[in-house]
Amino acid sequence: TAPFYLDCDTGIDDALALAYLLAAPAADLVGIGAVSGNVSAAVGARNTLDLLQLAGAADIPVALGAHDPLAGSFGGGAPWVHGENGIGEVSLAASPAPLASESAAEMLVRLARTYPGTLRVLAIGPLTNIAEALRLEPALPSLVHSVTVMGGAALAPGNITPVAEANIWNDPEAAALVLAADWDITLVPLDVTMGSVLEDHHRQELLASSAPVPRALGEMLGYYFRFYEGIYGRPCSAMHDPLAAALAVGAVQAAVAPVVRAAVDTSTGPSRGQTVCDMRGLYAGYPEVRGARCRVVLSLEQDFAPHLVETLLGHFSMVES
Ligand code: BDR
Ligand code: CA
Repeated sequence: TAPFYLDCDTGIDDALALAYLLAAPAADLVGIGAVSGNVSAAVGARNTLDLLQLAGAADIPVALGAHDPLAGSFGGGAPWVHGENGIGEVSLAASPAPLASESAAEMLVRLARTYPGTLRVLAIGPLTNIAEALRLEPALPSLVHSVTVMGGAALAPGNITPVAEANIWNDPEAAALVLAADWDITLVPLDVTMGSVLEDHHRQELLASSAPVPRALGEMLGYYFRFYEGIYGRPCSAMHDPLAAALAVGAVQAAVAPVVRAAVDTSTGPSRGQTVCDMRGLYAGYPEVRGARCRVVLSLEQDFAPHLVETLLGHFSMVES
């Protein structure tokens, strides 16, 4: 198994990604940081603690991260997508576990030093904490094994503006720093996550489980489905964050994933928050043009939703029944 640091804004699909990481045999979740995005960092941390408690994993440390993006202030989240409480108005029992005494950025730096060369970073919220960790420890890229980011839109439209995806939109300055850093980075953009759809029959399978975690996820998905019904025209939802988790774990494989130069627009014009990906390799002959070498996942080898449901039901039915 490989050690994982998860950075999240929990969030309904974040909750699914967290449960998936707990269930994935190849992942050893050694720390979690919360960042403002779908909800404030404080509410996201609370949701994370409560989910861990429900999953019998309250020993995994959770650190509070940045409330505000690097520039500006927290915009109030996305209650119309995730609910006021971030988890589709589902109430979970409050975990008695305390928050870690370090910040999320401090936790990431500490874990990178504890697991040199092997720590996998999975970021499924805005990239503020990861950017702060880079500032705290400029050698971070050489300490971690790899970084997987759910975010951006390479060729697909954005979901907040015509070109900007939510995680990048909520802190473009941080995303620009993270994509420019010299590490092994994989971007899991809307291009591939919008095609990874959980259908109503999958949700019914989760709801029918005798185990509390799949059932709670199934309930949360009812809220998520109502938002996504307006996009897909049927009750179902995209699986952004769980897909990034499965790719990071190596349980699903990318079919098409070019390595390109990717930059983030931090201007204040209509393209703010756009992930500008050099899909034609136009800059390939210009090594002096700065920008990270970023693997951008565009399609998958397999259908993702059945794997997600099977992994969750298999693991949680076993540990909880
Ligand atoms: C991303 O934004 C959030 O709403 C989701 O949790 C996901 O991380 C999708 O654009
Ligand atoms: Ca998220």
